[in-house]
Amino acid sequence: MATATGPAVLATAGLTWRVDGGVTIVDAVSIELRAGEFLGVIGPNGAGKTSLFNLITGLRAATAGSVHLLGTEVTRLAPHRRARLGLGRTFQASSVFPSLSVRENVRLAVQAYQGGSLRLWRSAQAFRAVAERADECLATVGLHDRGEQRAGTLAHGEKRKLEIALLLAGSPKVMLLDEPMAGVAAEDVPELVEVIRGLVGHTGGAVLMVEHHMDVILGLADRLAVMHHGALLACDTPDVVMANAVVQEAYLGEQL
Ligand SMILES: Nc1ncnc2c1ncn2[C@@H]1O[C@H](COP(=O)(O)OP(=O)(O)OP(=O)(O)O)[C@@H](O)[C@H]1O
Ligand SMILES: [Mg+2]
Repeated sequence: MATATGPAVLATAGLTWRVDGGVTIVDAVSIELRAGEFLGVIGPNGAGKTSLFNLITGLRAATAGSVHLLGTEVTRLAPHRRARLGLGRTFQASSVFPSLSVRENVRLAVQAYQGGSLRLWRSAQAFRAVAERADECLATVGLHDRGEQRAGTLAHGEKRKLEIALLLAGSPKVMLLDEPMAGVAAEDVPELVEVIRGLVGHTGGAVLMVEHHMDVILGLADRLAVMHHGALLACDTPDVVMANAVVQEAYLGEQL
C-alpha cells in the first residue's frame, strides 16, 4: 500500500488537553496527515481518540500545543472557521433531520456552506448549483436512488452514508471520521467501507479515521496512529505498528 508523501494537510504538535483537576486526556500528541493519505487512529476505549478529534475541530480548546490545517495555524480558531478552511467531521445522526428527505438534508448542508456567498439576483442559478452539488454528494455515497426517502426511515448503514454525504457538502480537504461503522449491521459494513475508501479519490483530500474494527481499519489505512492513555504510542505503517511490542502490550485484555 502506498504511503502518501505530499505536504502535511493537518499537523498537530504537542497537542494537549488537561481538564480541571489536572487529568491529562490528550498528552502531547504530534501527528501529521499528508495530502491523499488515509491515517487510522486506534487505541483502547478511553485512550483519548475522540478528545483528539475535538481538539483538532476546535470543539475543545487545547491546553498546550498547536494545530495546523493546510498550512494555517488554527489552534485558537472556532470550529466553523476551521470548517471553512477545509476541515470536515462526520455529523452525528442527531444532526440529520429525520422528517426531511435524504436530498433535502444534503441540500440544506450544501446551502449552509455556500450560503454566505449567495446573492439574491442569482438565486435561481444558485439553487441549481446547490441541487447539483447535493446530488453529487448523494451519488458519491451511493444514495442517489434514495433522495426522496425520509431520512428517518433509512437503515443504520444508509444513515452513515447520509452523514458522509453531509460531510462532503462542505467540500472538505481534511475529513475526520469517528467510528463510522458504529451500529452498522455486519452485512452492511463492506459497502460502507467502499464508500469510505472512495473519499480520498473523490475529494483529493485526506482522511483521519478512528475505528475499533481492526479488519476495517487495516484494509483502509496507509498508516496507523495508536493512542493509549492520551499519548501517541506509535504512528507507522500497519505492519510495523501491529508488530510493535509496546502496542501489543497496550492492547492486553482488549480485542485486537
Ligand atoms: N469533558 C470531559 N471531562 C473530563 N474527562 C473527560 C471529558 N471527556 C472525556 N473525558 C475522559 O477522557 C478520556 C478519553 O475519552 P475519549 O472519549 O477521548 O476516548 P476514546 O479513545 O474516544 O474512547 P472510545 O474508544 O471509547 O470512544 C476518558 O477517560 C473520558 O472519560
Ligand atoms: Mg471515542
